[in-house]
Amino acid sequence: MRAREKSPQEKIWIEVIHTMEKLYANLAQAQTGMEQKAEELLLANEFSNNIIRSMVNALVVSDSEGRVTAVNDSCLKALGCRERDLVGRPLKSLFADEAHNALYPGSRLWRQLTEAGVVRDAETELRAVDGASIPVSLNASIMLDRAGEISGVVLVANDLREVKRLLEKARSEAKELDRAYRELKALQARLIQSEKMSSLGRMAASVAHEINNPLGAIMVYTHLVLEELAAESEHGKILSKVVREVTRCKEIVQGLLGLSRTQQGKRKTLDFNEIVTATFDLLRGQPLFCELEHELRIAPQPVLVDGEEGPLKQAVMNVMVNAAEAMNGRGKLGIRTWTDPDARTAGVAISDTGVGIPKESLDKLYEPFYTTKETGHGTGLGLAITYGIVRRHGGTMEVESRLEQGTTFTLSFPSQSKAPGAEEAV
Ligand SMILES: Nc1ncnc2c1ncn2[C@@H]1O[C@H](COP(=O)(O)OP(=O)(O)OP(=O)(O)O)[C@@H](O)[C@H]1O
Ligand SMILES: [Mg+2]
Repeated sequence: MRAREKSPQEKIWIEVIHTMEKLYANLAQAQTGMEQKAEELLLANEFSNNIIRSMVNALVVSDSEGRVTAVNDSCLKALGCRERDLVGRPLKSLFADEAHNALYPGSRLWRQLTEAGVVRDAETELRAVDGASIPVSLNASIMLDRAGEISGVVLVANDLREVKRLLEKARSEAKELDRAYRELKALQARLIQSEKMSSLGRMAASVAHEINNPLGAIMVYTHLVLEELAAESEHGKILSKVVREVTRCKEIVQGLLGLSRTQQGKRKTLDFNEIVTATFDLLRGQPLFCELEHELRIAPQPVLVDGEEGPLKQAVMNVMVNAAEAMNGRGKLGIRTWTDPDARTAGVAISDTGVGIPKESLDKLYEPFYTTKETGHGTGLGLAITYGIVRRHGGTMEVESRLEQGTTFTLSFPSQSKAPGAEEAV
């Protein structure tokens, strides 16, 4: 049986139905594609959110007006606040009040960012919720929309607290090392000095020992001849001069002999206040001292030191005489006794407003015969003897000096707490 021929109307309907089917099929396909795309987008979004969230650095996004639109966990943690405390706030409020390099519309850094598109490693400070400043290194870049207009800003801040802490630690360790190195060098210098002094002292003392006897003989014979002559005769006068010079030689020899003395004499606990005042009382009437101003600052409590009274007085006297000589009779002599219970030391500081000591002379001061005084005015033994006495007492000598301004010598000894006068074993 032959199929009935379709009417033109039927044909049109069939055509319409086919086209509709095709359309539905395309629509279904498009929908599946879109669902797939939406899923991919969701995944991509989640992925970037994860990255942002797990970033160690603090991240802040703002719109083009500088209002915060998003922050990550590191940022919230560093500032100690919640997301809702930050989102919507102006960028400016994230920075510490006095922060150099703050980034917000109108700031210098904002202008730099909008001109160059990026800002790299700008050091600045954020403000934590408790008001603390957090030093950070800031990187920022602008986001552009399709039309090329600025749509926002991304800021990444790297917390510098740990770096700064480590830097500070390294700095203080370096300082400590430097201090230890200096101390070691000073100790080495002191050791060399003390070694030099003791060998010089030994040598000087052995020469002095040899000279002592012939000097004694010269003295005796000169006296014998003097007794034979009239004191007012020409020869008598010359021989008197010989006696005077030989006496001076003997004094020098005695000083030299004292240099190498290592044996201790009888020691007792002394009040250094008394040693100092007694010595100054002895000197203050002398022509070199009577015009001087002086400031005597004696410690209110006894300044107790174990030692030999005579040599300690001599040590103090040598330094006082030097001070007066450095001022040539005019200026201010300062004398201060002190105790330092923490360091368990005590002593005296003697200062003057005299000529001062050039730097290059400072390490020669304690050498025997080092003098800047004219021949006949100084032997250069005063400080060598003083140094020997101080060392024998377990003490130290320090000098601070400025040219044309003055000098301070500080003699420091191990301090005692026993009553003065208590005798020590020899
Ligand atoms: N207070 C001081 N101000 C400036 N220079 C000083 C001071 N004390 C010491 N000196 C310098 O140190 C040098 C050595 O001093 P030291 O007491 O050993 O010998 P002197 O005073 O020259 O001689 P002597 O003490 O034997 O009479 C002095 O010549 C002087 O140059
Ligand atoms: Mg002297």
